[in-house]
Amino acid sequence: MKTRITELFGIQHPIIQGGMHFVGFAELAAAVSNAGGLGIITGLTQRTPELLANEIRRCHEMTAKPFGVNLTFLPTVTSPDYPGYIKAILDGGIKVVETAGNNPQKWLPALHEAGVKVIHKCTSVRHSLKAQAIGCDAVSVDGFECGGHPGEDDVPNFILLPRAAEELQIPFVASGGMADGRSLVAALALGAEGMNMGTRFIATKEAPVHENVKQAIVAASELDTRLVMRSLRNTERVLNNGAVERLIEKEKSLGAALKFEDIIEEVAGVYPRIMKEGDMDAGAWSCGMVAGLIKDVPSVKELVDRIMAEAEAIIGQRLARFANA
Ligand SMILES: Cc1cc2nc3c(=O)[nH]c(=O)nc-3n(C[C@H](O)[C@H](O)[C@H](O)COP(=O)(O)O)c2cc1C
Repeated sequence: MKTRITELFGIQHPIIQGGMHFVGFAELAAAVSNAGGLGIITGLTQRTPELLANEIRRCHEMTAKPFGVNLTFLPTVTSPDYPGYIKAILDGGIKVVETAGNNPQKWLPALHEAGVKVIHKCTSVRHSLKAQAIGCDAVSVDGFECGGHPGEDDVPNFILLPRAAEELQIPFVASGGMADGRSLVAALALGAEGMNMGTRFIATKEAPVHENVKQAIVAASELDTRLVMRSLRNTERVLNNGAVERLIEKEKSLGAALKFEDIIEEVAGVYPRIMKEGDMDAGAWSCGMVAGLIKDVPSVKELVDRIMAEAEAIIGQRLARFANA
């Protein structure tokens, strides 16, 4: 299947694995790229640029196909060593960077000069247009359904994607709620050139996370996620658990007076305990509503092949029937 996204990134299938904290290690990125999609290493999960350089080297050893690195620009006071991370990306021969969070404008000249394509993750048409205006090559349009940070506008993909298609000239992928061939065909129908998946890729054999995380996703329904940190304008969609219920109680009782420090126990530094140790009540961790569509833990290749076969069957059989009727 050729789309503007497969052409832009030099990949076989229009499927991207979004950056995920403590999930997007070389093992998963390489598996997705080897399966014909675009795997992405999560930059900030590596504590230093040197560690990122090492992770990129490990990934090159596992795949000869293109893969990317996610750089999330956090609204924190003490900023990570972004120039160091950019240098590791360029020295590592990376050709695709997925940016997210704050505006990536400052870093675009260095990346573009080195021939790197930049796909920026946006949760609104407004931000997508900004990404286009500053010179990003593509956008990942993240709807309200998504795991992680859906922004503050709460527009689901059935509206957000066609709105993006109406306004954007650069290609975009649909992100949030994507799981299977039906998702891919729907994304294409709504104007996207492919799809980005987070939660679905966690429940795969190669995802280097504790088995408890995969089973929690398989067991969860579409009703089991919660939005937290809205009052801090840092809304995150997470899987419900004891820590999340505690966090929500604090949000209710403190209201507008809530500060980050009040919930630090539930949100800070919890990812290694969840993803590595499988301590599922350690805190709040990102998960999409799409968990309701995830029923198994296939290999990445089985998943990608199944998605492509299903998408082609839907287009060639089910949809073709309606067109000829
Ligand atoms: C566990 C987890 C961690 C994530 N960490 C990041 C991150 O560090 N940076 C980022 O840009 N997006 C992150 N995301 C968002 C994903 O890249 C992707 O946009 C999102 O998962 C898409 O929605 P879906 O889960 O419905 O597929 C994370 C998502 C999950 C589920």
